[in-house]
Amino acid sequence: MTDLNLMKEFQSVFQTDHEPNTFFAPGRINLIGEHTDYNGGHVFPASISFGTYAVGRKRSDQKFRFYSMNFQDIGIIECDLSGLSYNEAHDWANYPKGMVTYLRESGHDIESGADILFYGNIPNGAGLSSSASIEMVTGVLMETLFDLKVDRIEMIQLGQQVENQYIGVNSGIMDQFAIGMGKKDHAILLNCDSLEHAFAPIVLENHVIMIINTNKQRTLAGSKYNERRAQCEQALADLQTAISIKSLGELSKKQFEQHKYLIKDEINRKRARHAVFENARTLEALEKLRQDELVGFGKLMNESHRSLQKDYEVTGVELDTVVQAAWDQDGVLGARMTGAGFGGCAIAIVERNQVEIFKKNVNWIYREAVGYDATFYTAMIGDGAKEISEGVL
Ligand code: GLA
Repeated sequence: MTDLNLMKEFQSVFQTDHEPNTFFAPGRINLIGEHTDYNGGHVFPASISFGTYAVGRKRSDQKFRFYSMNFQDIGIIECDLSGLSYNEAHDWANYPKGMVTYLRESGHDIESGADILFYGNIPNGAGLSSSASIEMVTGVLMETLFDLKVDRIEMIQLGQQVENQYIGVNSGIMDQFAIGMGKKDHAILLNCDSLEHAFAPIVLENHVIMIINTNKQRTLAGSKYNERRAQCEQALADLQTAISIKSLGELSKKQFEQHKYLIKDEINRKRARHAVFENARTLEALEKLRQDELVGFGKLMNESHRSLQKDYEVTGVELDTVVQAAWDQDGVLGARMTGAGFGGCAIAIVERNQVEIFKKNVNWIYREAVGYDATFYTAMIGDGAKEISEGVL
């Protein structure tokens, strides 16, 4: 509790007595299945209790006013219904603008503007999907304020379209899906090709999921991310010269071994191997969880990290240090990076009564190696994007 009253903030920023509506969209962690979404494979994410709040009301004219309590120095960003196209000067507000743009383009009736105040408590640059969180909170806000009928899957796809076309990051559908569909105490197994999905209860007995922020900002994330994706696409094109597949996600490990010679470039072959093996691991992980085999689940997490380190090369010294340190502690079932990589966060499944010593030891090792502290949070798995009644934090 910080005594932050978002409605009062809204009224003072926008100088109004109107009572706005309040919405929340979480961030996400991914338990396993990394860099598989854009390869037509499976992912296993969950929405967390950190997220983005949006407080807003509809206006009767055509003006949009956006304000973020996280970027107070930028102030209110204003634009008109007719001026919603990408504008670098609008900085973070391009995310909600993009969402409004694509809602309108797909035929939803938005003929007037809105005042919207945002507040996010997802740690900055941590790879917990703050951008997808802003997109989805804008989606649910617009849906309610303008009385739209937006299918949730459509809203998720519009969020991805904002990333891909409006912002220019070629990301997959995992983040928006996890945030749009999240369910308290459950993770979502999602087939990113068909969008078929199933909720799996996360019952960890006497363990908790720790989020470990390396506090290394993901500076190169965008360009390296797009490069990995292009390498996988090239590997797929090579395979398609002889076998009929639509995505790497269709291949079993055995089929990959049989046909990998078709992939000409050795680096692309490693990238594709990760995509195929990680997809198989994700399905196996769900089975382990269903059979309450937490030890087996943890081992798959560890293998996932090694594959992201050696074959996909998206970890880096910070994530590798923190994950190795986690592996070396008592009471740890598994640990791996989560999200795109190149910095950001790792997750670990840690025995509840070892948490304090875990934090102390891992941080000590981390600080010795990289010169600054990591930050630790206990992950709480919460619901997906929705309207909430209380805006007091
Ligand atoms: C980012 C992207 C997702 C996904 C992950 C890696 O979070 O937004 O679509 O590709 O990286 O698994």
